[in-house]
Amino acid sequence: MSFSWLKSYMPRSLYGRAALILVFPVVSLQLIVSIVFIQRHYEDVTEQMTRSIVRELTHLVEMVEGAPPGRALAAGESVAAPLDFDIALPVDPPLSGDLRRFGDLSGRAMIATLRSDLPSIIAIDVTRNRRVFLWIDTARGVLEVEFSRRRVSASNPHQLLVIMIVLGAFMTLVSAVFLRNQLRPINRLAAAASAYGRGRVTKYAPSGAAEVRAAGNAFLDMRARIERQIQQRTMMLSGVSHDLRTPLTRLKLGLSMVDEDDAKPLLRDVAEMQQMLDAYLDFARGTTEGEREKIHPRQLLEELAQDAERAGRTVTLGSVEGEGEIKINGLAVRRALQNLIANAARHGSTVRLSLSITERAARFTVEDNGPGIPEEDREEALRPFSRLDPARNQDRGGGVGLGLAIAADVARSHGGMLRLGDSQDLGGLRADLVIAR
Ligand SMILES: Nc1ncnc2c1ncn2[C@@H]1O[C@H](COP(=O)(O)OP(=O)(O)O)[C@@H](O)[C@H]1O
Ligand SMILES: [Mg+2]
Repeated sequence: MSFSWLKSYMPRSLYGRAALILVFPVVSLQLIVSIVFIQRHYEDVTEQMTRSIVRELTHLVEMVEGAPPGRALAAGESVAAPLDFDIALPVDPPLSGDLRRFGDLSGRAMIATLRSDLPSIIAIDVTRNRRVFLWIDTARGVLEVEFSRRRVSASNPHQLLVIMIVLGAFMTLVSAVFLRNQLRPINRLAAAASAYGRGRVTKYAPSGAAEVRAAGNAFLDMRARIERQIQQRTMMLSGVSHDLRTPLTRLKLGLSMVDEDDAKPLLRDVAEMQQMLDAYLDFARGTTEGEREKIHPRQLLEELAQDAERAGRTVTLGSVEGEGEIKINGLAVRRALQNLIANAARHGSTVRLSLSITERAARFTVEDNGPGIPEEDREEALRPFSRLDPARNQDRGGGVGLGLAIAADVARSHGGMLRLGDSQDLGGLRADLVIAR
């Protein structure tokens, strides 16, 4: 049997689930205990009380029957008064049988006991307001007896129920407060982890229950290790790039003294090597450089378009939707978008930039009219150092395969993503850089 359908009815939050786990057994326990206990208790007590009344009734009937015919009522009353019975004799027997209200559990127990212990009873009526009426067949005619219901029924059994429900509700409330306090450290851990996923190192100290603390410490260890690795990667790559730059500069200087025709291809190689080093450095820096700042995306887009124009590229501005500032690492996002624009300009002749700002995200779109990237190659294109079909863009001064990887890295560190698709209007690649707000 599968309970998967139950899932859709389950609360989604840990708080809701824990509350359910807590409340469900408490409520069922209360229900079962109240039903079983109250019914049993109620019926047992009623039965015992009824038995003692039966003894008094038997005595009353004996007195009535033992008296001479004319004095039966007086004899009965002499017993009835001290026993707190109201009697009448003789009366017409009622036509209806036993009367009781539906759900009157103690009434049922009482009638059953009276009937079995006092066979001469003709009828019993327990429907009247807190009074019991019964008619007994005696040798002096039908005797009507009336007495208080309280003498045969346990009073206020629902008090127990009320206490249980009120106390249960109160206890649940108290545990809800405690539960909430237990959940706070989990929420704090989740917030710290999600902030780190977006590239922000927030202050976090493990707290709460042992398991949560353990998870928190594990998270801190992991974060420190990742930070260390990033730092080492940055240091190594920038060290290598930096150290190579000096001999390269010397080489360039040396080549400038050689005969121009011989030096030309060599100089091109040196320039290319320098470009590669720059790309490595960019990748190594990743998103560790630069500060988070408030930026108008619209303004950023216009600046990028102007920069590209100055570099001799044709860039048009497409649709710009939405308003508002975003808080981003301006340096990193600028670098990511520059990479996308450079790619588009290399593979196509027209580049279009557009922007869409919504409540939750800002989306920068770079489109071109080049050949695009087939769907099955898009994942590969995002990987560092991957160049698709290097022969294809050799003559266009291909990079080292880091442009898209850097852009994707930057998007991820801003809680977003880089999406590659087809440009509907231009026919080439469409790159969406999505950044969470
Ligand atoms: N706008 C584009 N149109 C067609 N192909 C592209 C485009 N942008 C990137 N590519 C392909 O994706 C590969 C990876 O791009 P990228 O990471 O920027 O590396 P690089 O530009 O250094 O080659 C490129 O080699 C190219 O084949
Ligand atoms: Mg590139």
